This record gives sequence, structure tokens and C-alpha cells, in this order.
Amino acid sequence: MKRDGHIHTPYCPHGTKDSLENYINKAIKLGFQDITFTEHAPLPTNFSDPTPEKDSGMDPHLLVAYLDELNTLKAQYKEDIHIRIGFEVDYIVGYEIETTSFLNLVGPQIDDAILSVHFLKYNDEYSCIDYSSESFLTFAKKVGSVQAVYDLYYATLKKAILADLGQYKPKRIGHPTLVHKFQLAHGEHIDDDANIKEILQLMAERHNELDVNSAGLAKKYCKEPYPPLPYINHAKSLNIPLVFGSDAHQVEDLHQYYDELF
Ligand code: MN
Ligand code: MN
Ligand code: CO
Repeated sequence: MKRDGHIHTPYCPHGTKDSLENYINKAIKLGFQDITFTEHAPLPTNFSDPTPEKDSGMDPHLLVAYLDELNTLKAQYKEDIHIRIGFEVDYIVGYEIETTSFLNLVGPQIDDAILSVHFLKYNDEYSCIDYSSESFLTFAKKVGSVQAVYDLYYATLKKAILADLGQYKPKRIGHPTLVHKFQLAHGEHIDDDANIKEILQLMAERHNELDVNSAGLAKKYCKEPYPPLPYINHAKSLNIPLVFGSDAHQVEDLHQYYDELF
């Protein structure tokens, strides 16, 4: 059964306006039977998005429209494809209460969700680690080294996995090696084998699913999936459910590299 569990939508402020129908029609045409739309959930209103355009999460005013439109399409296409309604929810250190409130609000109305770490907290400031190679390198300078950013990333991911975010906490952990996104820009070889294995072990114990995310393969400074193949196999050996995610922000990228990974 072909499934893609990580797809963005025209509701993404840093994505494209490609229509939901175009994503759905492509999925059907390529033989996918199960897809989840996982728009970046609105960030907590008291959190200041550190990216220049402040466009990491969807506009909270569009929440109802997002859910309505997806419910309509889900019903309309139900004979052809199983459409799940979901979110990619940020885990942000210090905003657990706000995130839990959001999940309690939307949880009963959605089918699926991903918990991702994009923001790292250092000295009471937040940085978005996947925004650009320049901002990544600036952050590494601030934190002390690339190694220190990796350590902070895995420590934050560990908190995300262990956090109490209520009964609607997402089961799936998003792209758990996202910190590799600019590895070919800084060129340092960081040995994070033990960190990744620890994360996967925790996920197995907590019955999390793994977002096997192909987007990194398309990124010129990354060139590998999140996580890399040996860890996808390691996750499999731990019986972690694997869910392919193309993380498409445009129809062109939908299901990218599926055949290489599944
Ligand atoms: Mn995005
Ligand atoms: Mn993400
Ligand atoms: Co995503």
C-alpha cells in the first residue's frame, strides 16, 4: 500500500499555492492509496517566529477553512484515495502548554499528525535550524560549534519525544536528522550515531512512528533522507512503524524519491 504521510498545502505561508486537488490527483495517478496533509500548525501566538518572514506556521485565522476544505475533499475523493487530515506540529522548548492547548483543540478533528523540531533554544533565543545555510552557520558560531548545534538538536528532539503534550500528542516524529540539512555547506563530519540510535530507541519504547522523509535528498547541502538509510533499517529492526513522507511544498515534489526509499 503506497502511503505519503507528510504533505504541505496552499495554506503554507512559505510554500506554493498549488491546489489541494492537484496534489490529490497526482497521488491517485501514481497509485497512492493513503495521504496525509500535514500543514505547519499555527505557532503559539506568544512565540516570536525567528525567521525573517515569520512564515514558519500557517495563519491561525485559516484553521477553520483548512479543516473545512480538507473535510470536503476527503469525502469527495473517498472512493479513490484515503485522505487524512493532519498537521505538522512544532515542538518548541518552553511552549509545551500552548502546544498542548492547540492539540486539545484540533485533536478531535484530525486523523494524523507529526511532531517536528525546527526551532532550537539557546540563551533564551530561538533559531530555526532549517531556514538557510547562512543562518545555520551563524547559529553554530553563537552556540560554539556545529557539534554543539547537533547536540542541542538531539537534546531538543529527546525532549519532544518525552514531553507530555496531552492525549492528542502526535505519534509520528518528523525528520529526526533535520540537523543534517546543511552538512555539505559546513563540511564537518559529525559523529551522531549514538544520538540517532538513542532517539530511535526512545521512539520504539514510546510506540512512535518514524517520518521517513525524502526531502533531504533534494536539498543540495544534504543529499540524504532524514534519517539516512542505515537508520531507516535500524528503525525497522526496532519495529518502529515507518511512514514515508515527501514533505512536498509543491505538487512537483509530491512523493519525491518514494521508489528509492520504499
Ligand atoms: Mn515547511
Ligand atoms: Mn518539517
Ligand atoms: Co514538513
